Parts: sequence; structure tokens; C-alpha cells
Amino acid sequence: MQSACPRSEPLHVAIIMDGNGRWGLSQGLTRSHGHNAGADAVRRTVEAAPELGVTTLSLFAFASSNWARPTAEVSALMDLFRSYLTTDGPRLIESGARLSMIGRRDRLPPDLARAVTDLEAETRLNDRLNLRIALDYSSREAIMFAATRLGPAATLAELERLIVGDAGIGPVDLLIRTGGEQRLSDFMLWECAFAELWFTRRMWPDFDASDLSEAIADFQRRDRRFGGLVAA
Ligand code: FPP
Repeated sequence: MQSACPRSEPLHVAIIMDGNGRWGLSQGLTRSHGHNAGADAVRRTVEAAPELGVTTLSLFAFASSNWARPTAEVSALMDLFRSYLTTDGPRLIESGARLSMIGRRDRLPPDLARAVTDLEAETRLNDRLNLRIALDYSSREAIMFAATRLGPAATLAELERLIVGDAGIGPVDLLIRTGGEQRLSDFMLWECAFAELWFTRRMWPDFDASDLSEAIADFQRRDRRFGGLVAA
């Protein structure tokens, strides 16, 4: 396995954290146990990311399509997000992470939406890591919202600003998906226009710093041309 060699330029990594439910069941436990173990993997990843040169980390925690899951699983997930913000908030503040949420806030439990807004305010001056958590997120909806709001005269830059939702955030460089599936599932379709994709069969609760390092090392070996030609 190759290890990543941190570089000075910004690096935006996005992760589709898949495989929690299967992991829980494979341990003879419930899907929700898998989500709880997934929160531990989030902690490990957030801690390891800046050391590996990641400047922005976008995590897909709850897709708008996930509302279709059984009510008990959805509530367990909302409880887990709440407890993550409470238990990990102080650590995020101290570690220099700036939290922001992408996705719709109007359908989240109001206390969860408030907790997100509070932690965003408390971490807004941090600059070691942009941690973006996608909740009730649909990339197609974000694109449609921006397009309908701006109308036909919109420039690409205006659309981009509204879709991405945060002026300092660049496009995704590396998209990781765990859990063995190889699809984008409506995650950051605009931001991933030129992203490098990295898939692993490892279930999200087993993901750790060495996996992140391996993905980044692989990314660093890729030849990114953005539609141009290889540099001479
Ligand atoms: C997909 O796995 C994962 C989710 C829908 C939830 C992601 C949530 C976490 C990782 C929990 C912690 C997150 C934060 C931000 C604290 P799945 O349930 O679809 O797995 P499966 O494909 O095995 O069914």
C-alpha cells in the first residue's frame, strides 16, 4: 500500500460513506449499530484528513432519498447526527475544523437544524479543515434550485456559487465511495465534474486513516488533464 505525501495545494475529498447497514448485520447486530460504528469512522477520518493534506472534506451523511427508509432507521440517524454534534462539537472547534452543512434544512428536526447552525457559527473562523456534512442532500435538487432562482441569464460562475453554497470551496478533487458500489447516487454531481473516483469494497465502519491515505496516494499518481493534454 502506498501512503499519501501531503502537498501544499488545496485538496477537496468527498466521501459517500456506504456499507453501514450491511456492516451492522454482518456483526449479528442491527443496521443502526452499523451507523453508530460509521460515526466512529467519521471521527477517525476527520482527524486524519488534515494530516494527509485534505483541506476540504465533504461527507454524504443523509441523502434526500433516505427519507424513504423505515421511520425507526431515519430517527436513529437523526439522533446520531444530534449526538455527533454534541459530543464532537468541542473537538471540532479545538481542532480548527470549520463545519458547514449542505442540503435542505427545512425538513430536519428543528433542534438538529439549530445545533448545526450553532456549530457553524462557533467554527466559522477555523481554517485547518473545511468539514462539510451533507444532510437531506440531493445534488440534482441543488442544481435545479440554483437554475430556477437565477434564471436563463445566469453565468456559470453565478450558478456555481449558488450550487456549491460556500465561496471558499473548490470543486471535488477526489471522490471516495466505500461499500463496494460504484455509483454517485446524486452526490455533488456539479462539484465532481472533473473529480477522480476511488472505490473500495471496505464497508464504511471499517474505513480508517490508512484507507484514506491509500486513496490519496492513488489520486496523486493520476494524470489530471481537465480536457487538455498531458504537460510536456
Ligand atoms: C449509507 O450506508 C450510510 C448512510 C445512509 C448514513 C451515513 C451515516 C453515517 C456514516 C453516520 C455518522 C455520520 C455523521 C456525520 C456523524 P447504508 O446504510 O446505505 O449501508 P448499506 O448499503 O449497507 O445498507
